[in-house]
Amino acid sequence: MNRRDFIYTGIGGVTAFTTGLKLFSKINDKEVTQLLEDENKSNVREYKINAEISEIDIGDKFKAWTYNSKAPGPEIRVKEGEIIRVVLKNNLPDSTTIHWHGIPVPNAMDGVPGITQEPIKPGETFVYEFKAQPAGSYLYHSHVGYQLDQGLYGPLIVEPERELLSYDREYTIVLADWAVFDGGGPEASRAGHTRSSMDMMGRGMGMMHRGGRGMIGRFSSDDTPLLEPNYDAYTINGKVNKYSTPFMLKEGDRVRLRIMNPSSATIYTLRLAGHSMTITHADGRPVKPFSMDALRIGMGERYDVLIRADNPGRWSLYTLKDGTPAGGYRLATFLYKGIQGDSYSDDSFSGRFIVNRYWDMEGIPDDKIPGVKGEIDRRFNLTLSGGMMGSPYWTINGRIWPETDDLNINEGERVRIEYFNHSMMPHPMHLHGHFFEVVNNNQRKSPPLKDTIIIEPHMGTGVIDFVADNPGDWFHHCHNLYHLMGGMANVLRYR
Ligand code: C2O
Ligand code: CU
Repeated sequence: MNRRDFIYTGIGGVTAFTTGLKLFSKINDKEVTQLLEDENKSNVREYKINAEISEIDIGDKFKAWTYNSKAPGPEIRVKEGEIIRVVLKNNLPDSTTIHWHGIPVPNAMDGVPGITQEPIKPGETFVYEFKAQPAGSYLYHSHVGYQLDQGLYGPLIVEPERELLSYDREYTIVLADWAVFDGGGPEASRAGHTRSSMDMMGRGMGMMHRGGRGMIGRFSSDDTPLLEPNYDAYTINGKVNKYSTPFMLKEGDRVRLRIMNPSSATIYTLRLAGHSMTITHADGRPVKPFSMDALRIGMGERYDVLIRADNPGRWSLYTLKDGTPAGGYRLATFLYKGIQGDSYSDDSFSGRFIVNRYWDMEGIPDDKIPGVKGEIDRRFNLTLSGGMMGSPYWTINGRIWPETDDLNINEGERVRIEYFNHSMMPHPMHLHGHFFEVVNNNQRKSPPLKDTIIIEPHMGTGVIDFVADNPGDWFHHCHNLYHLMGGMANVLRYR
């Protein structure tokens, strides 16, 4: 049986139509018992989510793929320890799933088609159910095809039983990149509205990519991965700045922002003009408060920051001018109560700013997530490459998913992954089902815990350590959707 057959037949267990606990009889007795106990405490929070095509209005109207007719989908907000139950009805013309990005759920709830469940077919319903822990800022999104770039994502917040941070108000900020086309990014790519094809034509290069399996842009055949679309707009909570309601500030307030980036192919360097930001959480995990001028946030990453409202005015949340397609873009407006007129207090979008770096962050030890203490049992070196000459293929150790090598480990092992980026694009690598420590080679005091790490281009490196404490088959991939679909993925496996 070859690999492709295996991943579609080897799943077993999970049926596409299932409700409540029936599904869990396919997991294991311990989990069923645990869930029954939790159900008795009647702390189940049920959400009904319909995946459907709807017209959205980001400031311009087009048809997107949505949860409950919105992009981003509804905010799921529960207390730590509650049971999240999501009844997902698929009204899309295609199969779908939901992945709970960042939460270490039981493997069968992880929402990866062909790896942890059968895709949910059009017309079918599927029930996801898992315990909301630990507290933090997370995302949920489709893990099928290009659906993430069509609008299928939303914020998921697990509040702690007891909040240790003190703040006066809080805003959720969901960043998204849009190609204003019916069907979103992939449809734009299919129509030839791509970054690379434009770059390539600009450089006068040929239209045939190296694999020779098809042509780029609008000529691509169905099995050739799509190139990144050329995005037309960047939104926060589904609106471009001009059509959005300002985030209100009151002088003297401490404001918490939960900034989340489910964009398909955009890394932002965000600055709130006139203010600095203090990072309190990275990917939901608490870090020693660290303040900076601008926040670099990759696809799949989340940062919680505090701002002190001490500079009245009308301020932009914008991206630094850095030569990238989204650079120098005004994303949202922060407006102090009592400020009149519509002129902004900020002007230039460039300057010298301190930007967060992983090695500046220090994790806060957490007894629920013990650190990686002691010798590493298992190491993997992963070379990230691809995208040469406008190719849509992206590789791990020279291979394209599903031909990439599995990361086979045993339960309880301390695992290290070392990344080397031989390509010219950054890769935000995301591991399902685990938090990992971001290892700084020079110093290792209390490493921050994350689930997504940007590996910078041009020979950039990164090292992560984690404990294998959540058995299953866990997807591990670049969170640039076009790199994922172009092959930059593999699976961590243990029983
Ligand atoms: Cu946010 Cu595998 O994904
Ligand atoms: Cu990538």
